[in-house]
Amino acid sequence: MQALEQKILTEGIVLSNHVLKVDAFLNHQIDPVLMQQIGQEFAARFKDQGITKIITIEASGIAPAVMAGLELGVPVIFARKYQSLTLKDDLYRSKVFSFTKQTESTIAISNKHIHSTDKVLVIDDFLANGQAALGLIDLIHQANAEIVGVGIVIEKSFQTGRALLLEKGYRVESLARVESLENNQVTFVR
Ligand code: G4P
Repeated sequence: MQALEQKILTEGIVLSNHVLKVDAFLNHQIDPVLMQQIGQEFAARFKDQGITKIITIEASGIAPAVMAGLELGVPVIFARKYQSLTLKDDLYRSKVFSFTKQTESTIAISNKHIHSTDKVLVIDDFLANGQAALGLIDLIHQANAEIVGVGIVIEKSFQTGRALLLEKGYRVESLARVESLENNQVTFVR
């Protein structure tokens, strides 16, 4: 997606050979116009798939997921990473290990919002090693719902996430595919 790649090139900051800072438009400040275009692009790629729900993970997955939900006309559920005061229903839970942060967290959604008849699209901001996406997929499996695919805003193609998801048979659509962050430069998969 050209507008996204351009934004990464102009406003992204390479922090190291494997970390890209995009606080200017995705992870802290959010660019609503770009986010709307991202939602439209996800919707174009996944239309006609009979999607009934979108699932993402807090915090940075919410903005692109909501925009995609608006375009596709379906509700958006975000998995919680922290215990909620009000979320006391029966929960589906999954453990997610972050290689980037070297921490394990438990993600959860209420079983009220996802059912065996649902066709679910997973959306997240970054795909690195795929652990967050696999955690979301696990939650969907617990609900016996169908997984239509995984939509990613920025994929770091030099990490293992994409291969892992494809190997398990999931469709992966990434709007920007970063090939390398070496020499302080962002290059994209062509
Ligand atoms: P994985 O799920 O693909 O295995 O990724 P990993 O555990 O390595 O990533 C953990 C967190 O770090 C996730 O956000 C992920 O989006 C983010 N992340 C991974 N690589 C990058 C990167 O190069 N740049 C940026 N900006 N973020 C990266 P999170 O902790 O859930 O954060 P948030 O959603 O609350 O903002």
